[in-house]
Amino acid sequence: MKTCRLIYRSIAKPEVLNADALSRLANRAASANRQLGICGILAVSDGRFLQVLEGQSKFINSVYAKIIKDKQHYDVELISFESVVSTEFHDWNMKIFTLDDIEEHIREHLLKKYPFVDNKIQFIDDAVLMNSLLIDIKHLYS
Ligand SMILES: Cc1cc2nc3c(=O)[nH]c(=O)nc-3n(C[C@H](O)[C@H](O)[C@H](O)COP(=O)(O)O)c2cc1C
Repeated sequence: MKTCRLIYRSIAKPEVLNADALSRLANRAASANRQLGICGILAVSDGRFLQVLEGQSKFINSVYAKIIKDKQHYDVELISFESVVSTEFHDWNMKIFTLDDIEEHIREHLLKKYPFVDNKIQFIDDAVLMNSLLIDIKHLYS
């Protein structure tokens, strides 16, 4: 079966944007993903989500179908969906990175490469750039 990587962005409902709600969301997602062999990370910046999901295509499709309908966020927009030979995010079944409260030297590094407004990284509709951002986040925290 094909392994694939899916990246989307969305706008978070304000009530989800607190540490407790985000960690509940990530813990539930991680345990559901573990059952299906899905890996990935969820980045949060300026009230937006950027998520990458990797795994077998039929499982990625079914989880994404649920995510689209989830009322905790809206304007879910697919950025890329591709077959991959190897996975990048196998360290985590789902881990959250909140880019608004990252260490200053990491923020400075990211601001040199990625678009920002008021010092906040923006998740844009550019598959190459967003893939690169997610991989940078992974390396900065590994
Ligand atoms: C930003 C965001 C990311 C999510 N990521 C995942 C995920 O990686 N895996 C997952 O199973 N559910 C994830 N969810 C939750 C799903 O949308 C859905 O609520 C969950 O799969 C519950 O499914 P169930 O009704 O079958 O229990 C996410 C939700 C949001 C808002």
